[in-house]
Amino acid sequence: MECRSGTLPTIPEGRSAVTTATSPHAFWLAGRPATGDDTLDVTSPWDGRHVGTVSVPSDAQVEEAVAAAAAVAEEFSATPAHVRAAALDHVVTRLVERSEEIAALISAENGKPMKWARGEVGRCVSVFRWAAEEARRFNGGEAQRLDSDAGGVGRLAYTRRFPYGPVLGIAPFNFPLNLCAHKVAPALAVGTPIILKPAPATPLSGLLLGELLAETDLPEGSWSVLPVPNDRMPDLVQDERLPIISFTGSAPVGWSILDSAPRKRVTLELGGNGAAIVLADFADEADIDWAAQRIATFSNYQAGQSCISVQRVIAHQSVYDRLLPKVVTAVEALQTGDPSDPATDVGPLVSEEAAKRVESWVEEAVSRGAKLLTGGKREGATYAPTVLEDVPADTNIGCEEVFGPVMSFTRVDSEEAAFAAANDSKYGLQAGLFTHDIQAAFRAHRALEMGGVVVGDVPSYRADQMPYGGAKQSGVGREGVRFAMEDYTYERVMVLTGLEL
Ligand code: SIN
Repeated sequence: MECRSGTLPTIPEGRSAVTTATSPHAFWLAGRPATGDDTLDVTSPWDGRHVGTVSVPSDAQVEEAVAAAAAVAEEFSATPAHVRAAALDHVVTRLVERSEEIAALISAENGKPMKWARGEVGRCVSVFRWAAEEARRFNGGEAQRLDSDAGGVGRLAYTRRFPYGPVLGIAPFNFPLNLCAHKVAPALAVGTPIILKPAPATPLSGLLLGELLAETDLPEGSWSVLPVPNDRMPDLVQDERLPIISFTGSAPVGWSILDSAPRKRVTLELGGNGAAIVLADFADEADIDWAAQRIATFSNYQAGQSCISVQRVIAHQSVYDRLLPKVVTAVEALQTGDPSDPATDVGPLVSEEAAKRVESWVEEAVSRGAKLLTGGKREGATYAPTVLEDVPADTNIGCEEVFGPVMSFTRVDSEEAAFAAANDSKYGLQAGLFTHDIQAAFRAHRALEMGGVVVGDVPSYRADQMPYGGAKQSGVGREGVRFAMEDYTYERVMVLTGLEL
């Protein structure tokens, strides 16, 4: 397949996602740029500056996109793997070529420091690269002789996976590019159309992804990027032409989607309150330094706005008193400020409202007896990296997902108590386990009710090809390119009869 790289002949002048903020950015309707009557302003959480204005699709335009997705579904599913893989490869190439500009866009609309925005672009490259590779090897099909029973003699079962149908992908603000990629790339890899809805606070990165897809020859209708306001989403969620929903976001919204569409195939990537567990054997000076550094960094990366940031530190009493001051020192060394400054570690939260919520939760915990060891201050949308100790379990910090730069320390006297403390939560996304003991690692893997256990590091580690998702209220289904491809498809068997096998 030849990709139309370089120019975008059909985008009206000045509507490209990143080149201007003066006229509304087009959205992508069935692969073509389009504008509607309404607009949405995107502002920087750091300084309130206008980052862009986005055109919002009308109901009729949304209907057009869904109808186009439904109409092309069969044709797209039959597209040869090399065509889909080439389109995904093209996105890889263009992401690499435009990486710095895209990182700046992520940082501007989300407030994420440039060092983390660059990392996000790199991860998005990895997602599309994996998807291209998986597209090539997925669906070779599997043949099975059925003659293990007399009635199966001369019969062969051939099994292949087919898409359930078009996907509705709903992406969050915290990884405005890469969590769009986790919805889009697997859909294109299996040949099923996708309607992507980026987060209202950060639609520009998803629209930019559309710009790269528009340079490919993917069939019309196979993808759309529609910045539909949240209050207009229920109709799309109910639409029977979109039998798959892949949602990343808050737990209440996610579960309400599942409740309102119980017959759909729904993947939910919801919240977490990541635990970093430090066992007694992780006790050398170098061990403590490593754990402290990683915990400090990954409680505060993206201002704590990751479902797998470190929110809870559960440390054995024999290492606790050496670990805690080192974490506090490392936290205080983090540079907070302007996300466009390459030296900045911690930028603002997505909005002042979000920072005020975190502030009120910390105040609540402190008023109920928690000790504030550092941080606890807000300036606009920025909240200072904060370390707490002795947080009552029934406070918001103690039992909810903070989604802010706050961690709380808990002292335990045994491995069992550590695992029990980590499990004492309605969430179960990922845990980090600092130990050198391989048997303890296997015990943790068995005991922790989580989607993932990271040994030797924080819960925040995620490689984009591995299965990612939660247990308990953290969600259902799995992302990670191949795992999403499986979630989007089902096995269909064909039995051949009368064969001379
Ligand atoms: C999330 O916040 O769920 C995504 C975390 C990641 O992709 O690293």
